[in-house]
Amino acid sequence: MCGIIGSVGKCNHYQMIIDGLKLLEYRGYDSSGVGYLVDGKIEVIKSIGKVKNLEKKLKKFNASAAIGHTRWATHGKISKENTHPFISNHGIFSLVHNGTIDNFLELKKELIINGYFFHGETDSEVVVNYLEYLYLLNEDMDESLFLLDKKLSGSYSLVILFNKENRIYFLKNQTSLLISKIDNGYLISSDLYAFNQELVNYYEIEDHQYGCIDQNDVKIFQNKNNIKLKFKRTKISSTRLIEHECYLEKEILETPELIEKQIEYYTLMNGKNIPSRIIKKLKEATKITILACGTSYHAGLIMKRLWKNKNIDVILASEFDCDTLTQYDENSVFILISQSGETFDLIKVHQLIKDHYVLGITNNVNSRIARLVDDHLNIMMEKEISVASTKAYFGEVIMLYLLINKINKLDNQDLLLLPEYLKKIIERKKEIVAMAKQIKKYPSLYFIGKGIDHDISLETSLKLKEITYIHSEAICLGELKHGPLSLINKKFPVILIDSGNVNKEAIKVAKNEIISRNGIIFQLDTYNEYSLNFLVEVYWGDLLALYVGKKLKVNLDKPRNLAKSVTVE
Ligand code: G6P
Repeated sequence: MCGIIGSVGKCNHYQMIIDGLKLLEYRGYDSSGVGYLVDGKIEVIKSIGKVKNLEKKLKKFNASAAIGHTRWATHGKISKENTHPFISNHGIFSLVHNGTIDNFLELKKELIINGYFFHGETDSEVVVNYLEYLYLLNEDMDESLFLLDKKLSGSYSLVILFNKENRIYFLKNQTSLLISKIDNGYLISSDLYAFNQELVNYYEIEDHQYGCIDQNDVKIFQNKNNIKLKFKRTKISSTRLIEHECYLEKEILETPELIEKQIEYYTLMNGKNIPSRIIKKLKEATKITILACGTSYHAGLIMKRLWKNKNIDVILASEFDCDTLTQYDENSVFILISQSGETFDLIKVHQLIKDHYVLGITNNVNSRIARLVDDHLNIMMEKEISVASTKAYFGEVIMLYLLINKINKLDNQDLLLLPEYLKKIIERKKEIVAMAKQIKKYPSLYFIGKGIDHDISLETSLKLKEITYIHSEAICLGELKHGPLSLINKKFPVILIDSGNVNKEAIKVAKNEIISRNGIIFQLDTYNEYSLNFLVEVYWGDLLALYVGKKLKVNLDKPRNLAKSVTVE
């Protein structure tokens, strides 16, 4: 959830860390901090809020190693005391952490009995002190990290400065941590993008591995055994903002071109880029269970609607547990959908289902989920930076649709038309902005829809609320009269989703119910004759949220309290 970057060797550490933190900010922006090592002394600077606040406070420094962190608060409030990096009581270590330590209270008690004191409430502050406690007992860094790994329960990527050595130490379990070679040194980060290179040579640290990097070398151990490293190489596409004022806008507007490429890639040469073993597994499955969170869950709902004669369940990953497993026979298969491929709720669920066939659909071939699953399909939407997920939703739905078509030997004619329909919506900016001008006046509203239109209204409603802070709920059209109607009046409007799939009579009845209570109805005016018009409605919804957000002058890329990639429970 939080972002980590560290650099060691002969380089401009100040620049490396600040640039890295800016690229990591999408993982959390409650607070940020930097620690650096100069002549055997660790300095730490912290700031609440965005990285730009930290940048204002931080003077350029010369150091032999440095670490940085962006925080998304889990244990403890947003405060300076709870901001990383933490320094141990005797000043020997400074540490940044991503993940959550389940047994930190127990460890804290042990440390307090041994004379340790704490400034904040985080589990991470306990870890840095526990490391120091172990080190002072055995005076051996490798041994201390080995023992720390045995002692901690939970998820952790730890990146550590040690005041006696010009090195960065690390330990990891269950969250991502990568090392990259640069001229005269090494970088370490929770995220490939933070290395800020087009072509990255990297090593992905495995669970329970620990070690250190310095100017010339990497040493990695697991259970005291030396690990041989194999560096991988990957190209990172540029994510810079050139023409747009924010990533949200860029990412919504580039959707048509990206899905054009995605459809082309997966349909060329008779769809050979969808491996036939995936098709076979899904076709023969007695039951398909889709697991996902947030926007990706909403994409999963569409598969259930579209593949009518198949036994499909769509479950929020956080709601799935061991008890439900009894319902699955050996031919049950699972699909994990995740834009980032790093969402902890899904990684946790994978532990439960790994004896079954699991297909992963993500936007990140280098992600943990991509590596854990039996087969993986890349939605190819390029890096999504804005916290609110938009283009990835389309990539995910299209991937699922391509699978259904291939399994059922259907053509992709409708899909091929989609980019053009989306482009037509971009041209209608004036109408959407006019609607946005109206919507921004209301503190609360409903999205209503029936059938697949309800599924997509869950997504459009989520987008509006997370981006603009307008309270919104998605209500099934037929359920209005069973309670929600009580809120309707001239100050509480409704946005009607009608993609053309639903019986007009039901819509007429709902409209009358609203109008007779002085309710106001907004309707997205899209192309009812087009079979995938429900996706066009989502696109309109994304643009509507963007323009309402612009009018309200909110931070469009970084809504408060949220983070892009939720790598903690
Ligand atoms: C976070 C993001 C959402 C996203 C959800 C699932 O909550 O803020 O935008 O939909 O995680 O993320 P995933 O990467 O697994 O699709």
